[in-house]
Amino acid sequence: MKQNAYLNNFLFLRMRHYLLLVAVATVATVSTAPADEAEDDRQTTMMKKDLVETTTQMMKKSLEQQRQKTSSVNDGGRLLSLPNAESCKNRPKHFELNGHWYFLSSNTTEHKDAKNDWLDSRNLCRKYCMDAVSIETEEENEIVFNLVKKERLPYIWTSGRLCNFKGCEDREDLRPLEVLGWFWSASGVKVSPTNKKPEGWENQPWSQTGHFKRPQPDNAEFEINETTEACLAVLNNVYKDGIAWHDIGCYHTKAVLCEDNDQLLKYIAATNRGIIL
Ligand SMILES: *[C@@H]1O[C@H](CO)[C@@H](O)[C@H](O)[C@H]1NC(C)=O
Ligand SMILES: *[C@@H]1O[C@H](CO)[C@@H](O)[C@H](O)[C@H]1NC(C)=O
Repeated sequence: MKQNAYLNNFLFLRMRHYLLLVAVATVATVSTAPADEAEDDRQTTMMKKDLVETTTQMMKKSLEQQRQKTSSVNDGGRLLSLPNAESCKNRPKHFELNGHWYFLSSNTTEHKDAKNDWLDSRNLCRKYCMDAVSIETEEENEIVFNLVKKERLPYIWTSGRLCNFKGCEDREDLRPLEVLGWFWSASGVKVSPTNKKPEGWENQPWSQTGHFKRPQPDNAEFEINETTEACLAVLNNVYKDGIAWHDIGCYHTKAVLCEDNDQLLKYIAATNRGIIL
């Protein structure tokens, strides 16, 4: 669990475990409480209040840890930002898939012209309890591809990231990095090995060409001036290759497709009681 990318999931599992324990403890305490009903009610209320407060504390801590850890991933010591309750509540919703809402930054009045590097693109989304899209199924990929084509965008950022930062060095399971080292930073889920079609998919999402006419990811910019191509973008026919995934230097600026982030939504729900998200 050294790798930052999997920290979210790990913390969440830990937290779920913890909540379960607290819940079990609540039930256990209540069932052995005195027969006196008023006292019983009072204790239950206290336990519930305690549960909510503990949960909130846990979430805050987990988020803060995630924020600090993830900062080492990124250039210039910038941090991942925390969500804003009002923005989460009123977040733009362009379409829904499997219980997650999505929006395209270029299709909002506020961010119509926003072109950000990879980290700031994630932060644009995170304000709304979202993050840059994690494309985990072919169905989702088709929807993303069709949207980018329909909107005639040249490219968009996703949350895809190469695990080439501190914490990834001793992960033998991620070698060779260009094949096994990619993951969706918003969800912590690994990207399939890049050198073959993902299992169960009909098409290979990575482009088979690029700057040096090599299959992607190829870290082409590194050969030009030692800038690692550590971020994953959807490029719309930029290399006359149709629409496909490319590894790109994270400093490039693009529009972003945002997707609901369960962890941030839970965090805001827990820290703003009664908020409807
Ligand atoms: C984006 O905006 C265009 C018009 O500029 C509109 O035709 C399109 O339906 C919008 N798409 C979404 C997903 O909101
Ligand atoms: C590296 O090369 C690319 C492509 O020519 C260029 O856009 C970029 O600004 C260069 N980066 C640096 C740090 O020189």
